[in-house]
Amino acid sequence: MPNNIVVVGAQWGDEGKGKVIDILSPGYDYIVRYQGGNNAGHTVDIRGEKHILHLIPSGILHKKKICVIGNGVVVDPKALLDEIDILHAKGISTSNRLFISEQAHIIFPYHKTSDELKEIKKGGTKIGTTKKGIGPCYADKVARTGIRMLEFMNDALFKSMLKEIIREKNTTLKALYGFKGFNFENIYKDYVRYRARIKKYVTDTSYMLYEAVRNNKTVLFEGAQGTLLDVDFGTYPFVTSSNSSAGGACIGTGIGPTEISKVVGVVKAYTTRVGEGPFPTEFSSNLMDEIRKRGREFGATTGRPRRCGWFDAVVVSHSIRINGMTEIVVTKLDVLDALDTIRVCVAYKHKGKVYDHFTADQAVLEECEPVYLDMPGWRQDTTRIKAYGDLPGNAKKYLKKIQELLNTKIVLISVGSERRQTFKKGA
Ligand code: GDP
Ligand code: IMO
Ligand code: MG
Repeated sequence: MPNNIVVVGAQWGDEGKGKVIDILSPGYDYIVRYQGGNNAGHTVDIRGEKHILHLIPSGILHKKKICVIGNGVVVDPKALLDEIDILHAKGISTSNRLFISEQAHIIFPYHKTSDELKEIKKGGTKIGTTKKGIGPCYADKVARTGIRMLEFMNDALFKSMLKEIIREKNTTLKALYGFKGFNFENIYKDYVRYRARIKKYVTDTSYMLYEAVRNNKTVLFEGAQGTLLDVDFGTYPFVTSSNSSAGGACIGTGIGPTEISKVVGVVKAYTTRVGEGPFPTEFSSNLMDEIRKRGREFGATTGRPRRCGWFDAVVVSHSIRINGMTEIVVTKLDVLDALDTIRVCVAYKHKGKVYDHFTADQAVLEECEPVYLDMPGWRQDTTRIKAYGDLPGNAKKYLKKIQELLNTKIVLISVGSERRQTFKKGA
């Protein structure tokens, strides 16, 4: 029986995946990112020291683990090297334990510029991207005009491809946005420098993982973003450009579906999202400020304030279905400690129709009225609690209700950012 798991965000990202992956990592040999890029920001808090991982799997903080950036990830070499430097400065080595797929696509300055200019031009209809060039890089991948690590490693091929692509990008960026144009030589020179340092990490990670699995090594697939940001199953077009849901783990690494034994969902005890797009349970301003402050809800990548709202069981049930989640971890329960009443959305009402399961119809999501179930708060500090049995009665009732509505099993509960502020749910 395989023992390889996917850990995936069940909402709009920032559910606390970094913390959960850090806790689960000791049980696995390989920690593998399968999609996204440095739009992600995964925070691991080790005794008060915060580490934010963007491209490198969160397992890197465990010195014996092998970390892989799969073919489904888009890699900004400059961002990658900056992250490696930060880790090295902390005494965390990446040599012989970080591997990057030779099939991963590379982000170039023209991707970032297109991302920024497109957003500016869209104005009120912008997506609110992280402006890291993620969407344009995936667009080139699908259009078959991208540059992968393989081409990047071959100087003659890389030079000729880059020259041609920059010529094309300059023409379109000028026509669309009046952009003055990129200088081929400058980009080429910078990327040759990056290549010299990145080369040693690049390999056929699909085959490497195949051999690992064949030799009974275990793999934890680290999802980035969240299911509602998945390009197919999220709130399109307000999504990212990759398959962040569990299915992406196979395509983004080259491991077959039969090798995956379990999908664990990470679920925040309320809801947040960064950027634009529908958010049925979004708070009104007073509560927004309070929860944002208590939960420190500011983006780990862009620093933007996160939008906050009540727990939405319609959204999370959708995630459970799309990912085939068998268990969930509930994070940030402590952020709700001070509330008198806690609401849980159980359905949406729109034009006389009740939606008890998620719909991809943006108009419904934008205009619907959430149907809430009100639960009494516990008004007690939970951040020092070490066992499920010690939680206040109303906190247990809240978790039980979530479990019942989602028809799933809560396995872990998190009541603070640090490793030790986590315990098993128990019976
Ligand atoms: P990710 O993208 O899913 O890895 O999540 P982020 O790191 O972007 O955001 C989660 C934030 O919440 C980080 O600052 C974590 O340190 C913090 N965090 C994680 N779990 C908890 C928790 O149970 N309680 C509190 N108060 N903070 C938490
Ligand atoms: P982690 O892994 C939260 C959001 C952006 C924007 C949309 C598209 O830390 O949970 P993109 O730059 O990907 O084209 O932006 O997706 N977004 C995230 N929101 N957490 C993330 O990652 C995100 N990565 C992208 O804010 O709404
Ligand atoms: Mg994050």
